[in-house]
Amino acid sequence: MEQDLLRIDELRTLIAYHNRRYYQLDDPEISDAEYDRLMNELLGLEKRYAGQIDISDSPTQRVGSEPLDKFETKYHHTPMLSLANAFSDEEIIEFRHRISRFLASNDEVSFVMEPKLDGIAVNLIYENGRFETGLTRGDGSAGEDVTRNLRTLHSIPFKIDHFSGIALPDTLEIRGEVYLGTDAFKILNKQRISEGMPPFANPRNAAAGSLRQLDSSITARRPLDIYCYAAAGVDGEGFSTQWAVLQSLQRWGFRVNPLVRRASTIDECIRYYHELEARRKDLPYEIDGMVIKVDSRALQNRLGAVARSPRWAIACKFAPSQVTTVIESIDVQVGRTGVLTPVANLRPVQAGGVMISHATLHNQDEIEKKDLRIGDTVIVQRAGDVIPQVVKAVASKRNGSEKEFVMPATCPSCGAVVVKLDEAAHRCINMDCPAQIKETIKHFVSRGAMDIDGLGEKAIMQMLERQIIRNPADLYYLTQDDLLTLERFAEKSAANIVTAIDSSKTPPLSKFIYALGIRHVGEDTSRLLAQHFSDMESLMTASREALLIVKGIGEIVAESIVAFFSQASNQLILRRLMDAGIRPQSERTGFSAPLAGMSFVFTGGLAHFSRNEAKDIVEAKGGSVSSSVSKATGYVVAGDSPGSKLEKAKKLGIAILTESDFLKMIGRK
Ligand code: IVH
Repeated sequence: MEQDLLRIDELRTLIAYHNRRYYQLDDPEISDAEYDRLMNELLGLEKRYAGQIDISDSPTQRVGSEPLDKFETKYHHTPMLSLANAFSDEEIIEFRHRISRFLASNDEVSFVMEPKLDGIAVNLIYENGRFETGLTRGDGSAGEDVTRNLRTLHSIPFKIDHFSGIALPDTLEIRGEVYLGTDAFKILNKQRISEGMPPFANPRNAAAGSLRQLDSSITARRPLDIYCYAAAGVDGEGFSTQWAVLQSLQRWGFRVNPLVRRASTIDECIRYYHELEARRKDLPYEIDGMVIKVDSRALQNRLGAVARSPRWAIACKFAPSQVTTVIESIDVQVGRTGVLTPVANLRPVQAGGVMISHATLHNQDEIEKKDLRIGDTVIVQRAGDVIPQVVKAVASKRNGSEKEFVMPATCPSCGAVVVKLDEAAHRCINMDCPAQIKETIKHFVSRGAMDIDGLGEKAIMQMLERQIIRNPADLYYLTQDDLLTLERFAEKSAANIVTAIDSSKTPPLSKFIYALGIRHVGEDTSRLLAQHFSDMESLMTASREALLIVKGIGEIVAESIVAFFSQASNQLILRRLMDAGIRPQSERTGFSAPLAGMSFVFTGGLAHFSRNEAKDIVEAKGGSVSSSVSKATGYVVAGDSPGSKLEKAKKLGIAILTESDFLKMIGRK
């Protein structure tokens, strides 16, 4: 037992270290498989001593714990203030003047500038260096106890250590903003829509909804993250500036936004405010402004607060991303899989720095739920790179001329009957529907898929109309002459496209899989498949069971893949693609898959792992394990008192490894 307890301690420290490398520093030192191995070992040990040891600090608790009935309300030790706003350069300059007036001095003042994340403010309370309580802001004095949920965020350290220079106070409060990145937000909403649940209106609501789950295992599945920006409870002695606070936060293991900057004049602040506003749409999370803080803590103390906002800080807000406009009409688009999507044509407006003229309304249910009508004045929003959304109708602006939207009974592209199965979506189920084919080809050539440059929607439309292509494979049989028959194509542009098509013939396997547009197989799933299967052939012939073995592939996806490859028309297209010379490149070689293509048989007892562990390790490194020896076996690993398998291997002349050879091979020795 003693040894196990030491190992538990060791594993916890090791995992905490690797969590920091991965989640905070974005610079992992070990592979995911190795990390999983550490985690599994720890889970196993903790299970063995269940009830006998304290697991509240263990990294295994990041997965969540039993649901609560409700959240408790608790007080913050130091109140959480809010910020006064500035909406223009003038108001920022006024903020600077106020400081001079209050201090009765024209001395220089330095500032720290921080992006203002649009998420949920939280207070992380550390007692003697241990994360004990996590609260939402609430009314500023007391918030909801969401500790268990915050524990699922990998970038919140469970323990922080004192480090040179700054003594750790008994009670330390770290403030930060919990958020959901825009990509994660989009994925979450897609998932919700496909499950018939209402999508979140924006990443902020999604983050709030995820953080306020009574069942923390749900929170654990949402990729929430946090940027920290303040520490309360540390005496002035410890920190002389806000900049030093940020640096210490980072050294303690908290994430600090990399876009924080220092400035020595207000003009510099204003320049950076505009720079951030310009970069806003490219950031992977939403920000709604920039916070300017007086850097010196001594000056901060002198300046104090009015009401609930400090005089030493201000939130410089960006132009609002919510605006009102009018739904002029609603079009229905047919997607790659036949789903009919209503899209609002909006009277064009500026929001979040971009012009908005269309917004998807998702499906009929969504339109009904929001009670949107053609002619309605609506609130639309767009922030970061999030697709514009219609938030709600302004019912008070109705004059009676608004019309309700009805989903057409037939496909707007091919006229086939539209069906509504047990899901929110209406679908055209005609496989020859031109709109679906067009979308399939657009997807096939898109970036992230075959990445064929220069083939826009218009060109694809024309090719389909002229019937020089009917499916993605036909692209590879096009000649320059075929293209010259299309409008707006000259020798040069036609030649360029032929070259672009030609040079797309050796895509990475994952991109090729993604390009096929198999339902439920997005970019991530394609990558998982490409890591597991070495070539198209083995993927195409994989059974449902074989697919379910792949980490991250569930039943719906497995069934969709099998269905795709069993369809005769798809097989034909694949054959034509291969005949045209498409050669997807395996991604299983190289560093991440050192055992790619190697097959193993284990016989006899192993000292370092169980059979299942050994199998996991081989598979994680790209190899395969089978239970019997044949000519196809690459290596037989012979442990203690091996059986007949060893004899057979010798007879067949197959390489035989000791456990220690195997350890070397997998880099453990
Ligand atoms: S400082 C006195 N810094 O903005 C300190 N707040 O209205 C007050 N926020 O509730 C907070 N990023 O949710 C601060 N870098 C940042 C921030 C930030 C986002 C949010 C926070 C707070 C609100 C203030």
